[in-house]
Amino acid sequence: MELSIAAKLDQRLEKAPVVPLVVPADPQSSIETARALVAGGLTVIEVVLRTTAAMEALEQIVSAVPEATIGAGTVLSDQQARDVLQAGAQFIVSPGLYAPVVQVAQAAKVPVFPGVATASEAQNAWNMGLRTLKFFPASLAGGPAMLKAIGSVFGDVKFMPTGGVSAANLGDYLALPNVLACGGSWLTPKSAIAEGNYNVITKLAAEAVAIAKQSRG
Ligand code: 3PG
Repeated sequence: MELSIAAKLDQRLEKAPVVPLVVPADPQSSIETARALVAGGLTVIEVVLRTTAAMEALEQIVSAVPEATIGAGTVLSDQQARDVLQAGAQFIVSPGLYAPVVQVAQAAKVPVFPGVATASEAQNAWNMGLRTLKFFPASLAGGPAMLKAIGSVFGDVKFMPTGGVSAANLGDYLALPNVLACGGSWLTPKSAIAEGNYNVITKLAAEAVAIAKQSRG
C-alpha cells in the first residue's frame, strides 16, 4: 500500500531527523543540491521562498528528485501556500503562526509546521489542531532549555527547532524527546553551491545523519 505524504514524512524523519534548507539560486543548482543531500542520507528537504527562482526550483525539484519529500518554507501568505501546493510541495513551513496558511494546508491535508517562539503561540497553534510546530528562531528563542520548559506544558506537541542549529548543537536538540527533527541551512553552504562543490553538501548531510544516530541510538 502506498503511504500517505504524512506517513512517509514521519518515516523519513524518524530515520534521519534533519531537514536541510535549500535557498534556490536557480532550479538546476537546487536540483543538484537536493540530490547531494539525498546522497548523504537526508530525504526531507525544505525549499524556501526567498529568491525569485524559488517557485520554479520547487516545482523542478519535486519532479527531478522523487526519492525525497520536498516541502516549501518561508511561506508567508495563504496565496503563497496555494502556490506551493500547486508546485507540488509536500509540506509547508512558515516562520510564524498565520491561521490562513495553516488552513490552506489543513484543507489540502498537507503537513504544516508554523513557527512559534512563545507559549502563547504554541497554545494558539495547539488550538488549531496542530501537534508538530517549528520552533523559530531556535537559538535566540531559548534553545534546548526553552524546549524543555515548553515541553512540560505541551506534552503532546513535537517541535522542529530551526534557526542557529548546526552540527555543533544538533545532538543537544535531538536528545530532547519533544524534538521531531531539526531544520537548518548549515547543510547547504552558499559557497559550495556557487562553486558546484556538491560533495561538501553530501558530507555535511552524512555528518548530520551520524550525529542523529549517535544522539537517538
Ligand atoms: C529558517 O528559515 O528556518 C532559518 O532561516 C534557518 O536558520 P539557519 O540559517 O540558522 O539554519
